[in-house]
Amino acid sequence: MFVTDSSLNQTNKPEKKRFVILISGLGSNMQQIAQLANDFSSRVSIQAVVSNKASAAGLDWAAERGIETAVVDHRLFSDREKFDQALARVVVKFEPDYVLLAGFMRILTPGFVNQFKGRLINIHPSLLPAFPGLHTHARAIEAGVQRHGCSVHFVTDELDHGPVIAQAALEVSTTETPEQLAQRVLVLEHQLYPEVVQWLSRDQVTLDDNGKVTLHGVSYRHIGTSE
Ligand code: GRF
Repeated sequence: MFVTDSSLNQTNKPEKKRFVILISGLGSNMQQIAQLANDFSSRVSIQAVVSNKASAAGLDWAAERGIETAVVDHRLFSDREKFDQALARVVVKFEPDYVLLAGFMRILTPGFVNQFKGRLINIHPSLLPAFPGLHTHARAIEAGVQRHGCSVHFVTDELDHGPVIAQAALEVSTTETPEQLAQRVLVLEHQLYPEVVQWLSRDQVTLDDNGKVTLHGVSYRHIGTSE
């Protein structure tokens, strides 16, 4: 059979989607995503794990599993723009279809965001637009919200305000501490982010010029338990 789809290679299997993951620490979300690539039928290919911190434990985890790693130490640059330009030079070498921020604790400049516009994704530990920024779990408890969770979203110039792709939520108990809530939300993150990455790898997520997200062939956008 003559194959017309350019995305198919000789074995008629669709090309895998190439992901670069940026981390700053443990990279537990990165670890969950990287496991996807082990599945033969997956279309996820992790090209590299890149960190702004040489001490990030996630780098060792990735390297031990044969994933290429790189460090761009933000302390070596005189300003944000120079760091972001150096980071972008490293990232583009891996020719990513998508760049995933997973516990990446740097605020990126508009130059970097625009260079990867439409293919730069982040996970934030709140139900955006509620609680952008830091200390989301303590703020959620302080505010007395009943539901809290995490959001996977496209990154735009406005911090933690990009178009949401999907969310996972849970009920906040009246007695739990921010640390306990953070751990429960992290469990949801580890369900949500890999699911969204699967959708991205299958071209099931589109973002239009008005910032509207459309999911194709996905029957649900809300993941996670309500306990
Ligand atoms: C997570 O809570 C995530 O939502 C936030 O960074 C925290 C650590 O993530 N972005 P990880 O374990 O480094 O993936």
